[in-house]
Amino acid sequence: MIAPDAPVVLVGCGRLGSAIVEGWLATGFDPRRLIILSPSSKPVAEAAALRGARLNPDRSALAEAGAVVLAVKPALWRSVAEGLSDAFDPGAVIVSVMAGVRDEAISEAFLGRSVARVMPTTGVATGQGVAAIYAANRNAREAAHALFDPLADTVDLDQEVLIDVATAVAGSGPAYVHAFTRALAEAGEAQGLDADSALRLARGAVRSAASADPATPLGDLIARVASPGGTTEAGLKALANGRALDASVEAAVTAALARARELAR
Ligand SMILES: NC(=O)c1ccc[n+]([C@@H]2O[C@H](COP(=O)([O-])OP(=O)(O)OC[C@H]3O[C@@H](n4cnc5c(N)ncnc54)[C@H](OP(=O)(O)O)[C@@H]3O)[C@@H](O)[C@H]2O)c1
Repeated sequence: MIAPDAPVVLVGCGRLGSAIVEGWLATGFDPRRLIILSPSSKPVAEAAALRGARLNPDRSALAEAGAVVLAVKPALWRSVAEGLSDAFDPGAVIVSVMAGVRDEAISEAFLGRSVARVMPTTGVATGQGVAAIYAANRNAREAAHALFDPLADTVDLDQEVLIDVATAVAGSGPAYVHAFTRALAEAGEAQGLDADSALRLARGAVRSAASADPATPLGDLIARVASPGGTTEAGLKALANGRALDASVEAAVTAALARARELAR
């Protein structure tokens, strides 16, 4: 477990790194605990610095860190590790949000430190994300939970290979839903709606679905909208069309997973 007041270093403040900082700042994380390493200026990092975060401080400041969140592109991580591995305390936990980089490789590059892998969505920016967590080591798992529980629905995985599956489902999932929304809008347009109205209606439908009570089973939520013999039931039958929807979604997850495994090689 990292000490509640131990500094946390974020390495990389791009799309995901910025979303994590936004989420932390919005959920009560003390900005004075935050150290951000970023080669270029980022609005979110500057905003955090105004509230007390340290931006690219002297290397000596890194020695105090209890956890290091690694949010750089997988292609760059080795050179980043080479430059930083001896800057941290041996007890610091490395929390990687990188897709496709194995914990063993990260631990080796960071001189044997404990590693947690976390696969979050950018929804963490508003505390609405989901994050899969894998760590072989209990201390690393607890550190990942301490950092991500306030920002996301955290899902524990007991095997590292499942992180790639989580990436294919939740990491890529928002894009699948956007593609579905676009198809819904285009179908409305094809039936006579103007483009703007069709898009607003489709987005509104997806928003309503997303805001449904998460404790209610999906079958019940579907049944609430689809009365027997009604319009929704007719639409659902066409959508299922001999499992066509299930098969398409399964194909999307399988293809994303295969790509994640290719990238990890
Ligand atoms: N985006 C997502 O939704 C998402 C979801 C799950 C996981 N991930 C993972 O998160 C990681 C980052 O993805 P991203 O989309 O946020 O990429 P990104 O926007 O390109 O961010 C990466 C950041 O790393 C910074 N960087 C490069 N070299 C650095 C160094 N030596 N020290 C500190 N920072 C350095 C870059 O700085 P500059 O901008 O100055 O070049 C950039 O801002 C990836 O490994 C990805 O697999 C992303």
